[in-house]
Amino acid sequence: MSTLTELSTGTPPADPLAVLERWLAEAREQRIQPNPNAMVLATCDAAGRPSARVVLCKGLAVAPGYLAFYTNYQSRKGRELAVSGRAAAVFHWDVLHRQVRVEGPVVRAPTQDSDEYFASRPWQSRLGAWASAQSQPAESRQSLERSLRAAAERFGAPPPDSARAESAFAGEIPRPAHWGGYRLWAESVELWVEGAARIHDRLLWNRHLTPAGEGFAFSPWQVTRLQP
Ligand SMILES: Cc1cc2nc3c(=O)[nH]c(=O)nc-3n(C[C@H](O)[C@H](O)[C@H](O)COP(=O)(O)O)c2cc1C
Repeated sequence: MSTLTELSTGTPPADPLAVLERWLAEAREQRIQPNPNAMVLATCDAAGRPSARVVLCKGLAVAPGYLAFYTNYQSRKGRELAVSGRAAAVFHWDVLHRQVRVEGPVVRAPTQDSDEYFASRPWQSRLGAWASAQSQPAESRQSLERSLRAAAERFGAPPPDSARAESAFAGEIPRPAHWGGYRLWAESVELWVEGAARIHDRLLWNRHLTPAGEGFAFSPWQVTRLQP
């Protein structure tokens, strides 16, 4: 590894999300892992108890500056987001020696985004969104399979345990109201690049967000170098 990284010298990039976009593209192009857009998403319950899980980043709007992910609104993360309205996300590409942290307020994505993304998913995944009350206790594995079969029947899709389960299905499976997207608005972004002798580069960008319409108005990014 070279001693200096792309964040070591020179003027720091003006927009950290433009760098995140490039790093995501590089991770995708270099095929370093099956899900280069995987990020750990941390939320908190009303008592401040944290929980974390992996979700896929399914959108990055460098301007105005948010990440999009999709899930069940009634899941544990959905319930916690309803209470706290904030989250932290971490990307880590081990072989690229890079980490990105994003923190800020979270709002539901517009229904049109959720509808479009839901419609783009394989029909098996769309059925799953109907069949699974994500994060609720399940009576048994069999009860989940029953629920998937019931969803298939409801929408006229092939039974999930049949030979046709892998085939195409053109019928309509609408988005359930309990499933959709969120936007994590970037209030702070830290880019981390591994350096020699543990002198890593850490640059932290902050900005102020003010609620405006469905999203936020924002001040310019301010950058600070942090000790490793
Ligand atoms: C690579 C990977 C990608 C995942 N992507 C998602 C996702 O995009 N949305 C989602 O709801 N769960 C996703 N999961 C499952 C979550 O990690 C988690 O199990 C689920 O969302 C329930 O979390 P919760 O009970 O904290 O709400 C993914 C898991 C892995 C390992």
